[in-house]
Amino acid sequence: MFRKSAFLFATIILFLASCNNSEKQSPQKNSPMKNFFHDPHSFAIPSEAVITHLSWDAHVDFEKKSIEGVARYTIDNKSGTDRILFDTRDLIIQKVTRGKDEKETNFKLGEEKEFLGQALTVSITPETKYVNIYYKSKPEAAALQWLSPQQTADKSYPYLFTQSQAILARTWIPIQDSPGIRFTYDAHVKVPAGLLSLMSASNPQEENESGDYYYEMKQPIPAYLMALVVGDIIFKPIDERTGVYAERSVIDAAHWEFEDMDDMLNAAEELYGPYRWDRYDVIVLPPSFPFGGMENPRLTFATPTILAGDRSLTSLIAHEMAHSWSGNLVTNATWNDFWLNEGFTTYFEKRIMEKVYGADYAKMLWALSYQDLQSDLKDLKAEGRWNDTKLKLDLEGRNPDDGMTNIAYDKGSLFLLHIERITGRERFDNFLKNYFNDNAFKSMTTEAFLEYLNEHLIKEDSMMAKRINAEEWIYEPGLPKDHPVVKTDRFKKVEESIQTWLGGTAARDLPTSKWTTHEWLHFLRKMPENLSKEQMSELDQAFHFTDSGNSEILAEWLQLAIRHHYESAYPRLKSFLIHVGRRKFLKPLYEELAKTPEGLKMAREIYREARPNYHSVSYETIDEILDWEPSKSSS
Ligand code: BES
Ligand code: ZN
Repeated sequence: MFRKSAFLFATIILFLASCNNSEKQSPQKNSPMKNFFHDPHSFAIPSEAVITHLSWDAHVDFEKKSIEGVARYTIDNKSGTDRILFDTRDLIIQKVTRGKDEKETNFKLGEEKEFLGQALTVSITPETKYVNIYYKSKPEAAALQWLSPQQTADKSYPYLFTQSQAILARTWIPIQDSPGIRFTYDAHVKVPAGLLSLMSASNPQEENESGDYYYEMKQPIPAYLMALVVGDIIFKPIDERTGVYAERSVIDAAHWEFEDMDDMLNAAEELYGPYRWDRYDVIVLPPSFPFGGMENPRLTFATPTILAGDRSLTSLIAHEMAHSWSGNLVTNATWNDFWLNEGFTTYFEKRIMEKVYGADYAKMLWALSYQDLQSDLKDLKAEGRWNDTKLKLDLEGRNPDDGMTNIAYDKGSLFLLHIERITGRERFDNFLKNYFNDNAFKSMTTEAFLEYLNEHLIKEDSMMAKRINAEEWIYEPGLPKDHPVVKTDRFKKVEESIQTWLGGTAARDLPTSKWTTHEWLHFLRKMPENLSKEQMSELDQAFHFTDSGNSEILAEWLQLAIRHHYESAYPRLKSFLIHVGRRKFLKPLYEELAKTPEGLKMAREIYREARPNYHSVSYETIDEILDWEPSKSSS
């Protein structure tokens, strides 16, 4: 008995000592050694055996719509186990070898689980350091969108891009697909001659004849940040460390739109410390990209729908850039902690915008985010999903994509604004800077964040703890009563204009000449429920909404058009739905259409044509809204 507890005691001491020691090592070394968390969305058991480095060698075959290659892993067999588990979904595993001498080894694919895929269990020995998995992806791999030349801007070459977040990396690489597991990587990718290929890593700036490209990501990242894009892409620098990639016909517009990117990056560094990823570039993808942006390290993926021609939608770039700290540096440990990525980033994004464009501008962003939050709360309540309004989620048994809503963004960032207002900005900024620095290249659970908050900000101040009220913000649904509200005079003036118009003044006589995109959005959102056809027409004639080149304004207007059966806008609605694949726009438009039988009929007709242009992330969502059964409907 005594010996047993003495042994236990010694083990604990050794464990603590090793933790302590690992704190002092470089991030690359220490991060895979850190504690691991239970992740309900990964088959990997990192406490047994975990990947530390990936050397990826792959060939992109546009004809077969397949990526074929080998994922060579360096592993850490932590427990002397005889197996290591990977996540896979829809992958064909051809052979697995181990060691530098590539001795063929046994492997087994587990039972297929909905959205999780199959566990790949590979036999190893306690000494195994290398595992090599030979595989190919299937044409239906959910992360990948293979575009025909016709679906690109330039219409000459095919295009491929990936979207790995949340759990789609496993559809194009067998991997330990948990945000709590980090690894470094290098890669060689072969693509058809003449195309350029880029990853979330050190990147080429021009095409080469052979189509062979080499990459290195020296900082450890989780699997959801693995990314690849292949196409006829060119590069244009902004300053020494920032630049833009896009197709030829888009590059100048993209470069102009993002010209302030270097200022944004400098502002971000002034706020929360050095940018740790060397270069920061953005690639503008074809319009089917299902998100506004994706924070792939060193290379943000962005939708072309933010090219408004007036730089008014670039807070999205600030957002993806901010993820270089909140998300890519300090990473949510599981998707239940998603708010740690998105809430912090949304707060940070607004701070960058404030620094570059002023407090007035940032206030409008805050006010719009607050409106989004109110409407999300209302919708989730109506859908019986009130529990999804908690910051800390419980996604066990669910597809993370279904539970990861805007709550993480808008309630998460409002919570941080609330803390800022209690502590004062200086103190809170200092806290955040240290938070990013102390936890760089680590994973963070909500509970570890709370501990850090107590230790470094609240300390023993029980009054402050009470006012911050973190437990309610994080673990309870809805919004605490004393939440901050951001008011802006500019929106008040917009509301006054609406009243003036409703009072009989002609729309074209309203004082709108200095309005920015955000004021227009507010104007459209604050319209009364029931407008007549004449009123819709008058607005359209005065402000040309149906012809707007600003995707945010257009999407807001098209919702109004559907609601009021304003048929003049329908051709534009149809072309927008066919052309654009950004889920944030598609979802409310299809939902609005689906509210009436005629609308639903029209939606289904459009969808038949539009669906082949969408990435799986978008069509999965829209299939559900329209009750669409792909096999039935296509026949
Ligand atoms: N990381 C997200 C996109 C994402 C979230 C992909 C969850 C898959 C699962 C990205 O940073 C993001 O938040 N994009 C937003 C833009 C932002 C300005 C709110 C988007 O795409 O709309
Ligand atoms: Zn984000």
